[in-house]
Amino acid sequence: MSDFQQLVLKRQSCRDYDADKPIEHDKLVRCLDAARQTPSACNSQPWSVVVVEDPAKLAEVAKATHQLGLNEYDVKARAFFVVLEEYAQLMPKIACLADSQVFAKGDLGAFTYALTLAAEAEGLGTCILGLFDRPKLRELLDIPKSQPIFMVVAVGYPAKDTVRSKVRKPIDAISRFV
Ligand SMILES: Cc1cc2nc3c(=O)[nH]c(=O)nc-3n(C[C@H](O)[C@H](O)[C@H](O)COP(=O)(O)O)c2cc1C
Repeated sequence: MSDFQQLVLKRQSCRDYDADKPIEHDKLVRCLDAARQTPSACNSQPWSVVVVEDPAKLAEVAKATHQLGLNEYDVKARAFFVVLEEYAQLMPKIACLADSQVFAKGDLGAFTYALTLAAEAEGLGTCILGLFDRPKLRELLDIPKSQPIFMVVAVGYPAKDTVRSKVRKPIDAISRFV
């Protein structure tokens, strides 16, 4: 199995963090450095990230993700990547055919996954959070109303090193070779 395959299998949504183990700032920077290599339409790179490290802010951000009784485990996360959607400058030829943001969500999905893989490579656990109180998060992090918040990623050292097996559709069900 390749190193990449092993990394992909090891990355899993972590819902139990070691609250006593802070994350080295440099590791978070390396995650961003790896994720910014993500490909994007016309190399538009329609992303930016608010990295939450401050303990007081962490608690507030965690609270803003506690929707419908979910995500409460993230009170033990030691960082959050809050991934924002930026304006995508497409090539003029393409821009006249499509809305500037037409590819942005796909680009952002790839970027967010790259963040989680990069974190895994640093020994960090992550969980992508799609459910959160957007107005609250805007207020906490000074994010303007006009700027879409794409996703929140909880980060921390996993409390346990158990790797679950993946539940995924089989290759046959998701592909065909011609
Ligand atoms: C867009 C998106 C939103 C998600 N939102 C949440 C969430 O709000 N809370 C949560 O605990 N997990 C969330 N997840 C994690 C998924 O449940 C998880 O990725 C999926 O079940 C596969 O499991 P794995 O990540 O462990 O391989 C989200 C994942 C994605 C990609």
